[in-house]
Amino acid sequence: MTGEITCLGAKNFVIKAMVASLLGETQTTLSNVPAIGDVDITAELLTSVGVTVERVDSDRLRIDPSTMRTSTVPVPHSGSNRAPILLLSVLLHRFKTVSVPVVGGCKIGARAVDFHLDAIRAFGGVVEENEDGYVARRIKPLKGAQIDLPYPSVGATETCLFLSVLAEGRTVISNAAIEPEIMDLITMLRSMGAIIFTSSGREIRIEGVKSLNGTNMQVLGDRIEAASWASLACASNGDVTVHGIRPDTLGNFLAYYRQIGGGFELMGAESMRFFRQSPLRPAVIETDVYPGFSTDWQQPFAILLTQASGISIIHETVYEKRFGYLKDLSALGAKTQITTHCLGAETCRFRDKNHEHSAIIMGPTPFTAIDEMIIPDLRAGLAYVIAAAIARGVSTLRGVDFLERGYGNIVPRLSSMNLQIERVVES
Ligand code: EPU
Repeated sequence: MTGEITCLGAKNFVIKAMVASLLGETQTTLSNVPAIGDVDITAELLTSVGVTVERVDSDRLRIDPSTMRTSTVPVPHSGSNRAPILLLSVLLHRFKTVSVPVVGGCKIGARAVDFHLDAIRAFGGVVEENEDGYVARRIKPLKGAQIDLPYPSVGATETCLFLSVLAEGRTVISNAAIEPEIMDLITMLRSMGAIIFTSSGREIRIEGVKSLNGTNMQVLGDRIEAASWASLACASNGDVTVHGIRPDTLGNFLAYYRQIGGGFELMGAESMRFFRQSPLRPAVIETDVYPGFSTDWQQPFAILLTQASGISIIHETVYEKRFGYLKDLSALGAKTQITTHCLGAETCRFRDKNHEHSAIIMGPTPFTAIDEMIIPDLRAGLAYVIAAAIARGVSTLRGVDFLERGYGNIVPRLSSMNLQIERVVES
């Protein structure tokens, strides 16, 4: 593929920023808001409790929490995502009883929410789980707490931040997630009036305040999109310039990209050119929390590794069930094997649990198109798009709803990079 593409605003920040805006007493305007399914689902959740959510233009979303009137969040019609569990904490500052529906998102592991629920309890709330979702109650205002997360979970760190900024007194979160999206969320909360101190490690200290205001916040470029376009450029032996991405947010992705034979050039503050520099070499990769190699980069990168000469290994340490998509790629010609062993340098939480969380990829394997590829989840969906792009022949992908939850305007944006892609509407 050749051409230019602009990364949309980060899915994994915008949803949290929308939820965070409910902590303010005045309206918040978010810019660089992507037109993706997850934003629609979150907007529906917010609207269902009375919050006014308005698209100011194609780029900006205005959220006014002053019209909020209920704390019972119904099941959204437009789909499900991770936002309900975050809403539980945010709404608990405003209401004494809050109920939210079951959390959705991609089925890539158990995706428990126990850290979130334990955090609410530590702040003085009472939480019950039932088959419809979660109910949280409090008698008095929430009180700051010492939270030591068992794992640096992104979502649980966000819950702790939301609980702490308006809680009485001090909170210390240890073993917190420090992904770029978390750092931007902290910036947003600080601009709303929160007092949050970060440290050189994984500790965050928050001094609760009585109230917060709305703010203006620009959504950072999506680093998962950027890694996907970089993988597409290299896998197809093309040349793609990606705009709207802060290079620092790509961290170790760039190191592995270079190591396997990918090339890149910085083209400005938020633009990068990606291409193949030399014949592709295999790699041994372990996914990890930030600043490690993100689990969300794993799938597009795996397609690249199928085209490298030799044996590559990926040890998935964040989700226990994120390799199902590899099995289906064998129909195109990929040679892969999935194992329950920890094949990385370290053993991980999934050791001895019988989860197929390490993959061996033998390359290079040219791909031949197949008639039906069923997309199992969002990131695997983009991996399938890359696989189909480099396969000989025409492939049909089904389940594009998964893809559109996280990648906006996918067909026109990929067409502009010379990929022959069209949306088939079935009668
Ligand atoms: N975990 C628990 N208990 C909890 C919370 C998490 O055991 O209460 C475990 C999870 O089961 C998982 C690990 O901790 O094994 C990490 O989960 P985390 O909470 O960090 O993930 P998340 O907040 O649910 C976000 C992104 C994911 C991304 C992960 C890791 C959003 C909406 N989703 O999920 O993005 O993979 O962080 O970086 O922010 C995607 O975009 O395709 C996607 C899955």
